[in-house]
Amino acid sequence: MTLSSAQVEVRDLTPRIGSELVTDLDTLLSGREAANIRAILEQRGVVYFRGLQISDEHQVAIARTLGTIVGNEGDEGIYKISLDASVNQRAKYLKGSLFWHFDGSLQPYPNLATLLKAVQLSDTGGDTEFCNTYAAYDDLPQSDKDLIADLRVVHSAEHSQYYVEPEMSYDEVAFWQQSPTKACPIVWTHQSGRKSLLLGATADYVVGYPVEESRALLARLRDWSTQPQYVYRHQWEVGDLIIWDNTGTMHRAMPYAADSGRLMHRTILAGEEPLQ
Ligand code: OGA
Ligand code: MN
Repeated sequence: MTLSSAQVEVRDLTPRIGSELVTDLDTLLSGREAANIRAILEQRGVVYFRGLQISDEHQVAIARTLGTIVGNEGDEGIYKISLDASVNQRAKYLKGSLFWHFDGSLQPYPNLATLLKAVQLSDTGGDTEFCNTYAAYDDLPQSDKDLIADLRVVHSAEHSQYYVEPEMSYDEVAFWQQSPTKACPIVWTHQSGRKSLLLGATADYVVGYPVEESRALLARLRDWSTQPQYVYRHQWEVGDLIIWDNTGTMHRAMPYAADSGRLMHRTILAGEEPLQ
């Protein structure tokens, strides 16, 4: 299937995930290709645009052609992603982004998509990896599809913080436990009929499973989903704009120093599909 159109050339980066989209800024801003780009995103999981001189205003305008923007604390569509607490007060929570996750796992609807633009890079580290959880689900052996068909996982902010701070104090645990948890199916059956997996750093435990079995299953499914054939690793250039389909992928930043200056500008599109 060719996804390219007259105005957008699709250059696949790996067979199962990731494409560079070659187009021009006017086309993106006009929204003429928005429906096409959404279809490409759903097929390819993650796309990027390079060399288009996309300002913050452009980024917000492009996002609006694709869906409905979700704000973060009065940010007008641009939220600063940095591990430096003097740039983002929630830097500690954002350290969870170094581990496989999808965005908005604790929200009523997971976000539709995230736009992330590189403003400043770290000298070392700081690539971003993405995995395709549609493809990972499709390839599961039937026995695993049967096993997980009706399983639910409770997601919590607290769980993702154990990756960042393995020996949290009582006060820290109590703080993170104030965030509401949310039960999600492991298998998300979309309105399209396609199925993807919902896992990641906020995935705390499988409902009704003994503790060890729950941990083992979550680790096994994450290992499966993040095998090299499902993964695209993006090496950023300043100005790159990435968009990922947050409903059929997970992502993580590769380690970088909090004081490296790495800064990304993020815009989030609201989820449109409820979870069953
Ligand atoms: C995010 C995120 C990864 C990165 O913004 O949601 O996970 O590489 N970012 O900064
Ligand atoms: Mn994220």
